[in-house]
Amino acid sequence: MSEVVDTRQNPVIEEDAEQRSARARDAFTKAFAFNRAEQAESAGLHPYFKPIAAQHGGTVRANGREMVITGSNDYLGLTQDERLKSAARDALDDFGTSCTGSRFLTGTLTLHETLEQRLATFLNKESALTFSAGYLGCLSVVSALAGRHDILYYDRENHASLYDAARLSYATLRKYDHNDLEHLERLLAADADKPGGRIIVSDGVFSMSGHIVDLPGLVDVKRRYGARLMIDDAHASGVLGDGGRGTGEHFGLEDDVDVIIGTFSKSFASVGGFMAGDRKVVQFVKHHARPFIFTAALPAMQMAAALAALDIMETEPEHRVRLWKNVKRFRTGMQRLGFDTLGSETPIVPVLVGEDDRALAFWKGLWDAGVFTTPALPPGVAPGHSIIRTSVNANHSDEELDLLLTAFETVGKGLGVI
Ligand SMILES: Cc1ncc(COP(=O)(O)O)c(C=O)c1O
Repeated sequence: MSEVVDTRQNPVIEEDAEQRSARARDAFTKAFAFNRAEQAESAGLHPYFKPIAAQHGGTVRANGREMVITGSNDYLGLTQDERLKSAARDALDDFGTSCTGSRFLTGTLTLHETLEQRLATFLNKESALTFSAGYLGCLSVVSALAGRHDILYYDRENHASLYDAARLSYATLRKYDHNDLEHLERLLAADADKPGGRIIVSDGVFSMSGHIVDLPGLVDVKRRYGARLMIDDAHASGVLGDGGRGTGEHFGLEDDVDVIIGTFSKSFASVGGFMAGDRKVVQFVKHHARPFIFTAALPAMQMAAALAALDIMETEPEHRVRLWKNVKRFRTGMQRLGFDTLGSETPIVPVLVGEDDRALAFWKGLWDAGVFTTPALPPGVAPGHSIIRTSVNANHSDEELDLLLTAFETVGKGLGVI
């Protein structure tokens, strides 16, 4: 067989028919042909994978200088809290660096059970279960509970974790338009004669638009159609509700959310995921979810940090108060400048820029002005609707927020966005 030659490395080489066909049969051809990232890098327009050398408060050290960061999910600003760090260090001393086994086999630590009990109590549910990532939590819960004979209804704007979870499940899939409960209801009504259970799954806070789900509407639909409701509260835990318990608490509808899915990678300032719900439902997931069973258990350090964060969420509301004060200052400032923040109601504040090229130029302008942030481009958003995805944290100082506003104003005016 003829050797596969990557002629893009040397365009002078002419391919013969045999080489061309060998290249078409090589599954890696697409990888060798992928050069958009290198092109963007050499044009100074690659906004992703930028390494951070150190972080403190709302400022990071990157590209050899101090930059104000906007877009992280450290909503309560706890990643640098000494109590979390020392809890993680103690757990490291007690349990070592890894569980090196599945929860099912040798990987269940007493700390898993402690954390799960504490989460269940915090969220007013019978039981909870932790996962090695929020992503794996979504895969586990949805793939275990949305079975072959069930129908899964999901919001078009749900996070990629829930899209992948839907694909992993054997359920029939129905996508409804974002927060459009009339559309959801039409789909449910059209399935009225079909057998199987109905499950609705939605983000509580949508990770790109910052919208809050219409939970009262979903609960009404769920009740009328006898469906089960799962809410992914990744961006709502610690943020929404007076007690930080998320979307259900925010709307006074905690009992109507059958399963809460969550992550430790945002307000909990750690890594890992969780679910909370009825004891029997959690027990079922624990014994059926392949993305839970066939992966190593969440390590002790991460759990200890999450537990310390939970202590703080329960006893120190001032972090949430400060977060919302910052959100108000930043969002109002951006709106006064004339930016379209797409109706965001949460610490996630998307800034609509438009076409991809303009969003990249916007990002570059901010980067040069000392702002560490990232754009969201298609397919993450609809074509022509690229955004700079900013977010506000509790540990942003007023000065940092003002610097952000000034940088956005300068770049926005320069590019004619405002
Ligand atoms: C809505 C939502 N769900 C799930 C996840 C996955 O969480 P994790 O980072 O813990 O894997 C994310 C992460 O960005 C998210 O935004």
